[in-house]
Amino acid sequence: MVVPFNLSVVKDSNKAERALAKAVVNQVLKKRDSLIGLATGQTMVGVYQTLVEEEKKNIGLFEDTVFVQLDEIIPKAETDRLFSKELQEIFLNHLEGGYDSFLSIDILAQSLNDEALRHWLSIKRLGGIDLQILGIGVNGHIGYNEPGSDLNSTCRVVKLADETIKRSGYQANTMGITLGIGDILAAEKIALLATGSSKAKAIEKTLRLPVSTDNPASHIINHKEVEIILDQNAAGLII
Ligand code: GLP
Repeated sequence: MVVPFNLSVVKDSNKAERALAKAVVNQVLKKRDSLIGLATGQTMVGVYQTLVEEEKKNIGLFEDTVFVQLDEIIPKAETDRLFSKELQEIFLNHLEGGYDSFLSIDILAQSLNDEALRHWLSIKRLGGIDLQILGIGVNGHIGYNEPGSDLNSTCRVVKLADETIKRSGYQANTMGITLGIGDILAAEKIALLATGSSKAKAIEKTLRLPVSTDNPASHIINHKEVEIILDQNAAGLII
């Protein structure tokens, strides 16, 4: 198969998570003060565990790195866990040599529209994202850019798709804040990770069908430097 982007299909989710962690480490070794955009979700847990292990072998690896939050849930129930907290708990708090800073989204801000703009501006002010890491939703969402999101969209408050709400166990009409598709495409590099058979359909649509607003992830395949890492289950419908 000839593909215009860098696609790796590896044996299992563990290898796929390690491959994405390696992309992050390589970026930081190349440019210590990189801005790295961080995604959340189950897919990313092993990636952050690997990065924590890597940093223990090279304490201070991330001391000049700026981490950037990709998206956030606007919680409606007490059980809704904030992504910013999760990133701190599973990753940032474990970095023995620390990191430069974490540009996070504050859902306690008085105006969430203003907060989305502030987050966007704080990234711009530092020169933009060097590497954005992404998962993918079963409906093809990236960040919380649900189907129908505009190609040029920027950081904003969004309504989550019913499918996303159901899958995550959120209450009806739960909203989020996300970097837009335009912001993701503005990153110097993008690396998307998908593992497990539940992502196979979304990956098939992304790689085999034309770019479409119905499938937000499809936009990334035209990016100048994108790496797509899949385990065999996620690649099940394309190989
Ligand atoms: C979540 C997040 C995305 C994430 C995607 C996949 O809801 N908003 O940033 O990449 O959906 O999540 P998971 O890895 O849990 O399947």
